[in-house]
Amino acid sequence: MQPYPESVPLPSADKRWKLVEATMRRHGYKASALIEVLHTVQESFGYLDDTSLRFVASSLRIPISKVFGVATYYHFFSMKPPGEHTCVVCLGTGCYVKGSGELMKMIEREAHICAGETTPDGKLSLVAARCIGSCSLAPAVVIDGEVIPRAQANAVQEQLRRWIGHDSR
Ligand code: FES
Repeated sequence: MQPYPESVPLPSADKRWKLVEATMRRHGYKASALIEVLHTVQESFGYLDDTSLRFVASSLRIPISKVFGVATYYHFFSMKPPGEHTCVVCLGTGCYVKGSGELMKMIEREAHICAGETTPDGKLSLVAARCIGSCSLAPAVVIDGEVIPRAQANAVQEQLRRWIGHDSR
């Protein structure tokens, strides 16, 4: 028998959260329902973002890093706005003090976009997150679903250049 979790408050009064909650309830709040639940979020809101992923993670009791991994790995999910590749930079305190703010600035400069945007050629979407539950790996960056522990500016920059080329202006 699946234990019923203490209820996680809905992120807002938006009625669409009720749809998401109904899907989770239908699946008994099982972790195995993650993909199904993320589909409901995407169908209801059009995309997945930090708030929805965090809500789903707490409700299904799944580590937020795993939820981010799944959400950014499968092509049928889009983090707003969707690009061919996704780079999530954790700006939670643990990562920020280890330099993730600088990393984010470097990526924004490199790709000529701000967090929450996609390059005009659709190659890269840049997403800012709060703590993704991998603080011991700070600063944490998730690239196409894979957590990069102790992300180094050089390595991230190299990867970005492979995707967006040298002239992304
Ligand atoms: S603050 Fe970045 S993983 Fe926790």
